[in-house]
Amino acid sequence: MIKTASIEEEKKTVSLDALYALIQQDLKLVDVLILERVKSEVPLISDIARHIIASGGKRIRPALTLISAQLCHYEGHRHIALAAAVEFIHTATLLHDDVVDESKLRRGLATANELFGNKASVLVGDFLLSQAFQIMVADGSLKALKILSDAAAVISKGEVMQLMTEGQPETTIENYLQVVLSKTAVLFAAACELGATIAGQDRHEEALREFGVYIGVAFQLVDDVLDYASSSSQIGKNIGDDFQEGKITLPVILAYSAGSREEKVFWIRTLAELQQTPHDFEHALLLMRKHGAIEQTIAMAEKYCTRARDSLSGFTNSKAKSAMLDIVDFCTQRLY
Ligand code: IPE
Ligand code: IPE
Ligand code: MG
Ligand code: MG
Repeated sequence: MIKTASIEEEKKTVSLDALYALIQQDLKLVDVLILERVKSEVPLISDIARHIIASGGKRIRPALTLISAQLCHYEGHRHIALAAAVEFIHTATLLHDDVVDESKLRRGLATANELFGNKASVLVGDFLLSQAFQIMVADGSLKALKILSDAAAVISKGEVMQLMTEGQPETTIENYLQVVLSKTAVLFAAACELGATIAGQDRHEEALREFGVYIGVAFQLVDDVLDYASSSSQIGKNIGDDFQEGKITLPVILAYSAGSREEKVFWIRTLAELQQTPHDFEHALLLMRKHGAIEQTIAMAEKYCTRARDSLSGFTNSKAKSAMLDIVDFCTQRLY
């Protein structure tokens, strides 16, 4: 007990303040551009787009583009528009994802599908995606266009792959990681790589891409933990969404594979057959805790974080590098 307490005390509290201080001006410009681009003479488009964009979000992906550009000593203006494109792709996937996941809460507010319906959400998601593409074309670099359009293609593939694992707790860890890589990590990777690309630092592209992949996987692993072990007020999303729809995430895979025959029957009933009673979610979390599935998932995220830190070893120390290392810590220690 005493040992655990002291470990907790030693645990550094992560803050992204240094990061946001470094990119504050740029991030404001990104937000201005985003809000400018969602103006539309079709009121439903601007209503939905503003609803999701103005409701907040961490802006972690555009922040990665901005800080990666800084790390590579970029001095122009292209990073602003490209960071906005990255956030547009992310926001479009959130609109679609909340329809698919039937989620009711996002960024602390009712989801767009809840307020405006599924049809409008899907269509406005497409509108946001089209904004990203217009920005990329206006940027004029085929290389940047390729990085982001490849990412957009892989994300959709990831969401479909995930759909195919729904209700199957015997899904392999390898298969799950492939989904995570596609639906989440690839956009993190693209966001980071762009910084090197626009700075003309081709030799750093691979390292930044790798960095993005690793933190992206860690970020999603922790998201999957938070969906069970956090609270809706903390994460601004309803906890238990993954359980309710039979989504197969690492905590489930680990608890299922370590579970007794009786426990396996529970997982099949709740996740495959979607026969759930009010206390099942609590019981699911209990089984995860019993088998250390939450801790193991966080441990796996930490392994990816170590790889992410290693990917930055070729960069000399700078404020930007140190802010990127803070992001790595944030990915596993974040509470929201
Ligand atoms: C949510 O991403 C989708 C996942 C990949 C888990 P974020 O947690 O970055 O969402 P916002 O943008 O901060 O709302
Ligand atoms: C991330 O998966 C979705 C995308 C990357 C599109 P989740 O479904 O876990 O994201 P949340 O929890 O709804 O934000
Ligand atoms: Mg979701
Ligand atoms: Mg989630």
